[in-house]
Amino acid sequence: MAILPIVQYPDARLSTPCKPVTEFTEELKTLAADMAETMYKAPGVGLAAPQIGRLIRMVVIDVSEEKNDLRVFINPVLSPVDEELIEGEEGCLSLPGLYEKVKRPAHVHVKAQDLEGKVFEYDCDGLLAVCIQHECDHLDGVVFIDHLSRLKKSRAAARLTKMRREKAREAKAE
Ligand code: NI
Repeated sequence: MAILPIVQYPDARLSTPCKPVTEFTEELKTLAADMAETMYKAPGVGLAAPQIGRLIRMVVIDVSEEKNDLRVFINPVLSPVDEELIEGEEGCLSLPGLYEKVKRPAHVHVKAQDLEGKVFEYDCDGLLAVCIQHECDHLDGVVFIDHLSRLKKSRAAARLTKMRREKAREAKAE
């Protein structure tokens, strides 16, 4: 297994729609394991393939407190279960340090394939529902700040630039 470098916003790979997975190979399993290791190490609760530079429709998620509930979703398709919306603070490993409130459906149905290509489906709520929507957005070239108003998004992007500049300055001073 390996820790992979995480693609940082606004890299073009984060705004490119990803291709469906058609072959369920050993290489795909290794990639999923590496993505999981990278996510746990970060640490984060979800990671999408484009975030490690692979433009394919695969995400890994673990929202459990014990970090023992790894879920892999390949070619996931989401649909809201009802009309309820929930607003929660989101962050992203490709925009580290930035947290913004995003409103999304509170309950979603997911249909996806596992690493063997077998189809599964179930309803999600709570943090899993939020996380799976955030990760599936990545597969369509969407990051969470794309859900903000244009003004809020440009302020958030400016804050990210400022944080990066400060971090670089600190690193230099050390
Ligand atoms: Ni993200």
